[in-house]
Amino acid sequence: MARRRQLYEGKAKILFEGPEPGTLVQYFKDDATAFNAKKKGTITGKGVLNNRISEYLMTRLAEIGIPTHFIRRLNMREQLIREVEIIPLEVVVRNVAAGSLSQRLGITEGQRLPRSIIEYYYKNDALNDPMVAEEHITCFGWASTQDLDDIVALTLRVNDFLTGLFLGVGITLVDFKLEFGRLWENEEMRIVLADEISPDNCRLWDAKTGEKMDKDRFRRDLGKVEEGYQEVARRLGILPEA
Ligand code: C5P
Repeated sequence: MARRRQLYEGKAKILFEGPEPGTLVQYFKDDATAFNAKKKGTITGKGVLNNRISEYLMTRLAEIGIPTHFIRRLNMREQLIREVEIIPLEVVVRNVAAGSLSQRLGITEGQRLPRSIIEYYYKNDALNDPMVAEEHITCFGWASTQDLDDIVALTLRVNDFLTGLFLGVGITLVDFKLEFGRLWENEEMRIVLADEISPDNCRLWDAKTGEKMDKDRFRRDLGKVEEGYQEVARRLGILPEA
């Protein structure tokens, strides 16, 4: 296939021009970064696993009526997606205390939260993705009140569905990050789920042992990072072709 024009290179993915107008090709790299790129590394095979895991989860979500940017997987490392205007927010959902929540508020890691929490972070590397409130988001026009209503409704449905899906394969969905985009069709705008859903942006713990199967293995130098991602894919029944 002819090499496509590169539009954007992020820390873990590259976006290329798609075959048709309004489409992009999302390429999954093995590169891993943490702590706003202060820590860098490579996780062999991560791109292949995340491409497959994200395809699987986006497809299951589409089946329950969640609109997503995903069209289809093209090969081991690439998927075809709809071009959307990314809303500059990282939407984090937490079911169990971990990571920055535990650090900031002194809540013991592993404590189940009385109810799920949604947090917003402004996507801006130069500012270290600061946490923001709804007031900031609407004041600075990153999203409207209506956009936020849609985002919250979608996020809660995604959380409910994925919590059950993962629990079914013995995994606790501790927390995760979503991104959304605006998609225009026939003069109408709708908010759709974008980016990826993978062990790069979810905390996934073995429901019995609490063993981590996500990017915290890389962040915290726990070793066996690829094995963790592989185990997630294996439990979902989607280990990629050799
Ligand atoms: O670090 P923190 O505890 O705030 O992360 C919460 C969740 O959001 C984790 O699952 C983490 O993987 C994800 N996240 C992300 N990208 C970021 C920050 C957090 O995917 N830039």
